[in-house]
Amino acid sequence: MNYILLTGGAGYIGSHTALALLRAGYQVISFDNYSNSSATALKRVEKLAGGNIICLSGDIRDEAALSAVFRQYPVAAVIHFAGLKAVGESTEQPLHYYDNNVGGTITLCRVMREFNVKKLVFSSSATVYGDAKTVPIDETAPRSATNPYGQSKLMIEHILADLVNAEPDWGITLLRYFNPVGADSSGQIGEDPNGIPNNLMPFISQVAVGKRDKLNIFGNDYPTADGTGVRDYIHVVDLAAGHLKALQYLENHQGIEAINLGTGTGYSVLEMVNAFVRVNQVEVPYQIAPRRPGDIASCFARPDKALKLLGWQAEKTLADMVRDSWHWQRQNPNGYAENK
Ligand code: NAD
Ligand code: UD1
Repeated sequence: MNYILLTGGAGYIGSHTALALLRAGYQVISFDNYSNSSATALKRVEKLAGGNIICLSGDIRDEAALSAVFRQYPVAAVIHFAGLKAVGESTEQPLHYYDNNVGGTITLCRVMREFNVKKLVFSSSATVYGDAKTVPIDETAPRSATNPYGQSKLMIEHILADLVNAEPDWGITLLRYFNPVGADSSGQIGEDPNGIPNNLMPFISQVAVGKRDKLNIFGNDYPTADGTGVRDYIHVVDLAAGHLKALQYLENHQGIEAINLGTGTGYSVLEMVNAFVRVNQVEVPYQIAPRRPGDIASCFARPDKALKLLGWQAEKTLADMVRDSWHWQRQNPNGYAENK
C-alpha cells in the first residue's frame, strides 16, 4: 500500500497525518477544496518531511474530479477527513452539512468501488455517543446525535456498515476521535479555526496570545470533581499515528470496525486551563459562564480496542498537548493567513 489518498488532507488532522505518512515512506495525495484550510499547511508539511505531496484542489462531491484522481494514481487506500465540523453552523445549515458530509462520502465510495479501491479509514467522532450514560465509553455504547453535524457522522457510520454488509470485500475503520488538541512540535502546522473558536484549546490559546480578552468556562455545576466539563483530549500527533496503524490493519483485514481514538483519561476545563498556565508560564484570564446548550458533563474513551486491534495507544502527555498548542499559536498568531 503506497499511494494513500487523503480527502481533506490540508486540514488540521489531515496535515498532521500527511506528515506522519510521508515520514513513514508513503506517497501522499491530498484532495481538498480548501473550504476550511490553506494549501500553506501542506507546503509546510513537505518542508518538515523533506518530501513531496501530490496536492489536488477539488470537492469530494465532484464525481468526475475524484474519478480523475483514481485514474491517474494507483490509490491503495483512502483516509477520509473531508467534512464540515462546526456544530452550531450545522444547526443553521443542515442541508449544506448533509450534502457535504453524507453526500460527499457516498460519492467517494461510489468512485472507490468503480476503481476497486476498497480500503477506507473514516474520520468519525465521539459525538456519535451523544450523551453517554456511563464513562469510560467503549465502542458498543449506544449511539445518538443531537445536531446535524453529529447526525451526519452517525448516518455515514450506518451507510458504511450497510456497504460492508452488501459487499464484504471492503475494509473500513471508523475512527471515533475524542477531543483532538495540540500540534506538531515544530509549531509549523496546527489548528487554524475560522473566526471565534468553538473548541476549548484554540480558545485558550487565543486568550493567551491576546486575541481574546478572557475564556468563558461554560458551567461549573456539572457532576464532576471541580464542576467543569470533563473531556478526553488527545494529541493530534498521537491521532495521526493511529491512522497509520489503521492503514496497516486494513492491509490484511476486511469488514468494518469502529475504534475509539482517545487516551482514556478525562481532564476538566479547569485542569486544562491550569496546565496551560503552568506549563507555558502565560496568563489565561477566565470567568464562569452559563452552561453551553447541548454540552455533556463528562466524556472519555475506553481505548482498549485500539490497543488490541491496532497496537496503538496515546503516548503524549497533557504537558505535551498544552505546550505544543501554545507553540503553534505563539508562532502563528493569525494561523496560516497573513492578515486574518
Ligand atoms: P478541518 O476542517 O481542519 O479539515 C477538514 C478538511 O476537509 C478541510 O481541509 C476542508 O477544507 C476539507 N473539506 C471539507 N469539505 C470538503 C469537500 N466537500 N471536498 C473536499 N474537501 C473538503 O477539520 P479536522 O479537525 O482536520 O477534522 C477532520 C475530520 O475529522 C472531519 O471529518 C471532522 O468532522 C472529524 N473530526 C474532527 C474532530 C476535531 O475536533 N477536530 C473531532 C472528531 C471528528
Ligand atoms: C465539541 C462538539 C463535538 C465535537 C467536538 C470536537 C459541541 C456541543 N460539541 O465537543 O460535536 O465532536 O467539539 O470538535 O459543540 N468549553 C468552555 N469554554 C469554551 C469552549 C469550551 O468552557 O470557550 C468547555 C466545554 O463546555 C466542554 C469543554 O470545554 O466542557 C470542551 O469543549 P469543546 O472543545 O467545544 O469540545 P466538546 O464540547 O467535547
